[in-house]
Amino acid sequence: MERRKTHMSLRDKALAVRENAYAPYSNFKVGAALTTEAGETYVGCNVENVAYPEGTCAEAGAIAAMIASGESRLTEVYVVADAPLPVSPCGGCRQKLIEFGAGDVVVTMATVDGVEQKMTLSELMPGAFTEEHLENT
Ligand code: THU
Repeated sequence: MERRKTHMSLRDKALAVRENAYAPYSNFKVGAALTTEAGETYVGCNVENVAYPEGTCAEAGAIAAMIASGESRLTEVYVVADAPLPVSPCGGCRQKLIEFGAGDVVVTMATVDGVEQKMTLSELMPGAFTEEHLENT
């Protein structure tokens, strides 16, 4: 019997996981997909809470899935939402992404309509606080 793995792009995976987002308070569903050095893909969606600050972003979910699977270096990120312009990772998520990705990692920000904008992590997070700052500790 022939077995085939259906090929889904990073965008397809981000769009698919976005459907599962739990966003009853903002009505803003976000999907994120990332690839790793090992060539795996991990996905996440935003998960809100009635206590609003307790919600988590799609990017944080994808990072948590990667770490839970034993990987820690990401090589590409795709984020998508139904927005008038490509969805931009929040400041907290930029810090989370830079923890696990090199400055030249490309983050594709997208709308469900297919508009895309690409920026590297160092463009998204210039002057980031990094491990280097802790070197005197
Ligand atoms: N959100 C994400 O999940 N990722 C982003 O890149 C931008 C914002 C979520 C947080 C919240 O659940 C909703 O979108 C509205 O801010």
